[in-house]
Amino acid sequence: MEIQLWREILNPYELAVEELTVKFDHLVREHKASGLYSPIEQVDGRVKAISSILEKAQKKHIPLDEIEEKIEDIAGIRIICQFVEDINKVVELIKQRNDMEVKSEKDYITNMKSSGYRSYHMIVYYQIQTLKGPKKLQVEIQIRTLAMNFWATIEHSLQYKYKKNMPEHIRSRLTGAADAIILLDKEMSLVRNEIMDAQNSFQI
Ligand code: GTP
Ligand code: MG
Repeated sequence: MEIQLWREILNPYELAVEELTVKFDHLVREHKASGLYSPIEQVDGRVKAISSILEKAQKKHIPLDEIEEKIEDIAGIRIICQFVEDINKVVELIKQRNDMEVKSEKDYITNMKSSGYRSYHMIVYYQIQTLKGPKKLQVEIQIRTLAMNFWATIEHSLQYKYKKNMPEHIRSRLTGAADAIILLDKEMSLVRNEIMDAQNSFQI
């Protein structure tokens, strides 16, 4: 496919990622301006690289004229939270909005992947405006804690380094590290709850 055609396809996704990043960043500001704790710590977004789209299409036997429908993560938003409890709050915030329509959800926090990967995934429909009129796109939203993100980032770069051949002893250390992440997230939530309890008893 010509680069010009790729630009035409990917341009709306660039817009969607930019708009959604602005909107989620604004949610953080709204919380802070109201003196509320923000369940969102940080927001990142990206449009999938053409080479990665081609690779995925080839791997999943997706014809080029079906990539927009079948590849759900051309536009990707990642929402990072401080605590596990925040993740559900973000999911609810997304469900309440009328500018995003949830297509599907995957809860890899309750159901951790065999790799040790944890995150909450949502595919949403999001409409942008183009010269040719409105266009509804799919966007993948990944919601995870700082600790889950730490694990996923390193595991991803090791996957990349080893391609398909990650040595078994590395694999098993990563799943061990994933268990440590679960404990870390739990401990942080306990610390937070203790602090909140202490604050509440001071207020009385
Ligand atoms: P893919 O995008 O091809 O994986 O489609 P899928 O239908 O298997 O979706 P899935 O929800 O499993 O994964 C979507 C995205 O989640 C991936 O593109 C990654 O960003 C992330 N992800 C899933 N599994 C892992 C994992 O084991 N390690 C890391 N680091 N990220 C993962
Ligand atoms: Mg996958």
